[in-house]
Amino acid sequence: MRRPPSAGTHLLPAAPLEDWLRERYFQAETDISSSGVHNYTLGDLRALDPVLLDPAELDRLMFRDGPSLGDERLRAAVAARVRPGPGHAVMTTHGSTEALFLAFGALVRPGDEVVVPGPAYHSLWALAAAAGAVLRTWPLRPENDFVPDPADLRKVLNERTRLVVVNFPHNPTGACVDAQGRAELLELVERSGATLLWDGAFTDLVHDLPRPADPTRDLDRSLSFGTLSKAYGLPGLRVGWCVAPRELLPELVRIRDYLTLSLSPLVERLATVAVEHADTLIAPRLAEARHHRELLLEWADASGGAVECPAPRGGVTAFPRFTGHEDTTDLCERLLSVHGVLAVPGRVFGHPDRMRIGFSCPREELERGLTAITEELVADGRREEPR
Ligand SMILES: Cc1ncc(COP(=O)(O)O)c(C=O)c1O
Repeated sequence: MRRPPSAGTHLLPAAPLEDWLRERYFQAETDISSSGVHNYTLGDLRALDPVLLDPAELDRLMFRDGPSLGDERLRAAVAARVRPGPGHAVMTTHGSTEALFLAFGALVRPGDEVVVPGPAYHSLWALAAAAGAVLRTWPLRPENDFVPDPADLRKVLNERTRLVVVNFPHNPTGACVDAQGRAELLELVERSGATLLWDGAFTDLVHDLPRPADPTRDLDRSLSFGTLSKAYGLPGLRVGWCVAPRELLPELVRIRDYLTLSLSPLVERLATVAVEHADTLIAPRLAEARHHRELLLEWADASGGAVECPAPRGGVTAFPRFTGHEDTTDLCERLLSVHGVLAVPGRVFGHPDRMRIGFSCPREELERGLTAITEELVADGRREEPR
């Protein structure tokens, strides 16, 4: 017998990005879809700390329940890197997805206004909407290469604004605020009386800017989110965190008590090693990504106007427009079926004439992917020629 859906979760819409990737991800031979750097192995992690991850040491690991806020050593490692404000503390979570789920659940009440960038990663707006929020968009304008303009934010703030959600560097466009943009953003949020949710999934992946400082240092009413899935190349570990005002932690824990309770001690052991050796993991991938960004931009420049690509200031995805395509979905389907190449059609982010291209795969993979796109664009051109 079909039962009615439970309250709340039935309001969660489908996530078109995940629907697109779900099976294709496992079919593709060449992956230029990813928003994270290419992945590391367990062996790579073990080499970083042969003592903590020594097999005999691991054999002694007891599978007890973990603490509700996360393992102390992991929380300390994250705090040493993020350097939160004094009124804030770290909670480790199952990916930053869980942290976002807890935060929206704790902070949004029906009728609250929540400002979200457009376009945005699905969790950032869908979780707010499912909690009953009225969404307001801070538009990142394609005609302005998606550069965030604080004047556009000012227009959507009012006394009913409960949360302002941002994600810099931004998925999928790679847009980012510089130090002045960050200061203006924090000041606008502070004056509005709202709380800032800063999704810092790509904080460690900025290209021609200094790494943005954690907002919790300058704004009491703020939370920040981080993850091992993007800059660390460890998406399958499913570890993230939030940095939240200390007084909010019991509320986050109350929700977690119905969701995941805690993380696995084995997973937290591995995550601790990753965060304690963050630079060793991140630096080579970042250097490679910067080089690949140049290759991608050169490829777009050489396309004769077929591909217009705003330069991403951070992250490892670009969001170019395909000038001859109103909707790139068919093109992406052909990339997979003919060439085994996985990319993401822009419609999943509400911009059908674009494509999300991840450029932090190994170089040969990126080159294969871009060549396949060029071949398909040439084939499209032939199909359109008058006979
Ligand atoms: C902006 C942003 N936030 C959060 C996430 C969630 O990542 P995870 O749950 O793997 O930490 C993603 C994943 O793509 C993302 O792009």
